[in-house]
Amino acid sequence: MRSDVPHLLHAYSRPAAGRSGFVDIVAGDGAEVVDSTGRRYVDALGSLWYCNVGHGRREIGDAVVEQMRRLEVFHTFDRFTNRPAESLAERLSGLAPMPDARVFLTSGGSEAVETAVKLARVAQAWGGHPERTVVVSRKPSYHGVTYAALSATGIPANQAGFGPLLPDVVQVPYDDLDALDRVGREHEGRVAAVIAEPVVGAGGVLPPPEGYLGGVRERCDRWGAYLISDEVICGFGRLGRWWGAEHYGVRPDLVTFAKGVTSGYLPLGGVLVGAAVREALEADEDAVLRHGYTYGGHPTAAAAALANLDLIDREGLLGRAPVIGERLGAGLGSLVDGEQVLGHRGTQGIWAIELGDDLPAAAVRDAMLDHGVIARPIGSSTLAYCPPLVVADEQMDRCVEATRLGVAQVRSRITARG
Ligand SMILES: Cc1ncc(COP(=O)(O)O)c(C=O)c1O
Repeated sequence: MRSDVPHLLHAYSRPAAGRSGFVDIVAGDGAEVVDSTGRRYVDALGSLWYCNVGHGRREIGDAVVEQMRRLEVFHTFDRFTNRPAESLAERLSGLAPMPDARVFLTSGGSEAVETAVKLARVAQAWGGHPERTVVVSRKPSYHGVTYAALSATGIPANQAGFGPLLPDVVQVPYDDLDALDRVGREHEGRVAAVIAEPVVGAGGVLPPPEGYLGGVRERCDRWGAYLISDEVICGFGRLGRWWGAEHYGVRPDLVTFAKGVTSGYLPLGGVLVGAAVREALEADEDAVLRHGYTYGGHPTAAAAALANLDLIDREGLLGRAPVIGERLGAGLGSLVDGEQVLGHRGTQGIWAIELGDDLPAAAVRDAMLDHGVIARPIGSSTLAYCPPLVVADEQMDRCVEATRLGVAQVRSRITARG
């Protein structure tokens, strides 16, 4: 057993990585964070795609302290509730991209996806269609790490070694409605739900082709399947509206959310449950929904979410994504040279560049740290950007410049090695 590794077994990391491999983040304000040596970085991915209102917002801290002092936590299983969870549900229902939504609360995105898949299946079963168990997802896509979420995730490397996965989960290329039709024919009468991110995030930053999501909606209607919009990244202003589904003009049956609902200040996620699913769940007065997480409806996490939503509202942060799209998108586009940087893609507040074949994205990320910017490699040749919505023009320019310098540095190192 190794003695030079940290006690903390880090997520998405090499278990054999030594202590010195980790950057110790100790503080943050706005779109920047600071490490234990005092070095400042632009947080170009909003930590992990979530810090929409930026770091160090006193209003959220105050709301959390106030709630902690009154009641830190009590559960919301039958027969208990609490004001912050109820208020948050009411607020999110009012913002939802479909009418009459109720809100199921979880502690994060994977639990939200797990919940949406389970609700889709149980609503189909209670609605008289127990044969509808198939869940269709896209490839690439990222939906999380618990078993339903992992099974839906369209990144084979994430699934390797963790099998067997959930049965009856079928994947189609992320942009191909004909492939979806083929799955519909193959599993005729058996599709419970289709799950899609409005813009594929960690799977590659891939906006949908024109009309794609509307096409998915139309097929769900025809098949009696539910459309799950996984808004864990796209929600709360990332695409310039409260929801990505609104941005693309589609009406989902279920919406999964997390990350930006609290800007990550406390762990919280959930599912918006639309009328079609509600109808099936509420039909039998005596039926009990045997699903729920210990921390679902956590009042302190809900207080953080409410304060975060207030900030998004008050500061007009939904309007920031188009600004980011113009400045950061154009800046990253200016780096495209067909050799070191093959392309850029994204929309609104979420972007990526595609690096030349022999330029490892992780090495470029590492080099960028020396230039004071934290971007994130997704896959071997893609770097992602999803900054806090409060990011300033000058900070976006630093992201672009650090990328240019990082790419040049890694290229010259590779060339020197021959
Ligand atoms: C679209 C999407 N769904 C689900 C998840 C899983 O969320 P969590 O990591 O909070 O479990 C993520 C996380 O990045 C995500 O991007």
